[in-house]
Amino acid sequence: MRELTPQQTVAELDRYVIGQNKAKKSVAIALRNRWRRQQVPEELRDEIMPNNIIMIGPTGVGKTEIARRLANLANAPFIKVEASKFTEVGYVGRDVESMIRDLTDLAVNMVKTEKAEQVQKEAERQAEEKLLDILLPPPPKKKGKQNQAFDKEVEKKHQRSREKLRKQLLAGRLDKRMVELELSSNTFPMVEIFSPIGMEEMGINIQEIFGGMIPKKVKRRRVTVAEAWRILTQEEVQKLIDMDEVVSEAINRVEQSGIVFVDEIDKIASTESSTSGPDVSREGVQRDLLPIVEGSNVMTKYGMVKTDHILFIAAGAFHSAKPSDLIPEMQGRFPIRVELDSLTAKDFVRILTEPQNALVKQYEALLATEGVKISFSKQAIEEIARVADEVNRRTEDIGARRLHTVMNTLLEDILYTVPETKRKSIRITRQMVKKTLDKIVTDENLSRYIL
Ligand SMILES: Nc1ncnc2c1ncn2[C@@H]1O[C@H](COP(=O)(O)OP(=O)(O)OP(=O)(O)O)[C@@H](O)[C@H]1O
Ligand SMILES: [Mg+2]
Repeated sequence: MRELTPQQTVAELDRYVIGQNKAKKSVAIALRNRWRRQQVPEELRDEIMPNNIIMIGPTGVGKTEIARRLANLANAPFIKVEASKFTEVGYVGRDVESMIRDLTDLAVNMVKTEKAEQVQKEAERQAEEKLLDILLPPPPKKKGKQNQAFDKEVEKKHQRSREKLRKQLLAGRLDKRMVELELSSNTFPMVEIFSPIGMEEMGINIQEIFGGMIPKKVKRRRVTVAEAWRILTQEEVQKLIDMDEVVSEAINRVEQSGIVFVDEIDKIASTESSTSGPDVSREGVQRDLLPIVEGSNVMTKYGMVKTDHILFIAAGAFHSAKPSDLIPEMQGRFPIRVELDSLTAKDFVRILTEPQNALVKQYEALLATEGVKISFSKQAIEEIARVADEVNRRTEDIGARRLHTVMNTLLEDILYTVPETKRKSIRITRQMVKKTLDKIVTDENLSRYIL
């Protein structure tokens, strides 16, 4: 996989997120800096600390969307967590260290998948031999000198039929034939073992402990040749992968290039008005989070993971709480602040039509499944954007999320009457938008409930 340059990263993000150029630029630089650091001579490498970022912006303007898309681009272990889901150590709930454990799990899977791809061909080849052994069991050998010549003859014949069979197998002609497979049952876990609360915190995986204790039962199953091939290949893949190697590679990746996106960080900032009551634990979560962001060792089921060089990107709407409501040490750990802009009607027009997952494209695709072609005039799009903007201003500003509700209300009738209506082509015009939405928009109570 290629490493993207900052400009390439921004270009990729542009396909999904409209505007917010400052934020895109910051995350793109941070992403590339991970790679740059890897190229620096070792003595200096350890000194280069990640520049953690905090994204600040109103709700629904693309903070999480940027992170989501970045995750797909970062050729690195990446996890998105919600700060509000964590509780202080000692309380019931998830402690902050679990984010590092999850990140490590993810990296292990990532490396395992890569390694699996590398050995796939070899595994298929070995599965092929195994399958041939099942389809045509090797002839029993007769002992004794006088039988040597005979054995050789039998063996030769066997080889010939085996090669014939191989041809048929590779051509897929045997796919539907049934064979019996012997499977060790732990490839099909029958019992789910629930770990008691607290075990996870210690980084212990009960299933793994007991998994080794329960004797591997061999189970016979009748499956098609095609299915058998798939199962055997999987078994071979598992055998060919060196798990120790996978784990050390995964831990290395987490430590050197891991990225944690901490969403909703404002939810753990305590505002003046809420310094009493259950909210004090928010500060506790911040205090727990500090050493991880700062750099410490976290015990995972795969071993110690150092967090010094993990990149943290935090985001929050900071409606009521301000970044300055975070404990000062925490603020210091996020030296780069980027603000995201509120979206305007102009942005809405673009958001409706341009991104790969644009709402208009989504509805076109949905209705196409019913054989209906829906299209929007330019003025109609502008009107939808204007309505969304107006409702945002009159009621709560929920950013681009408003577009979802507006579109949904606008198209409800159509979505309901298709496919019974005979119309095969529907054109949404400005008049139609006005007719459907005007009454709701002008009535504040109605728009509060509906849009
Ligand atoms: N700049 C944008 N470009 C394209 N789509 C956007 C943009 N901003 C928001 N959206 C759309 O709105 C939805 C909500 O945005 P997102 O989840 O990023 O909000 P957020 O900024 O994280 O808000 P919150 O603070 O409430 O978490 C996204 O799923 C996306 O479809
Ligand atoms: Mg969000």
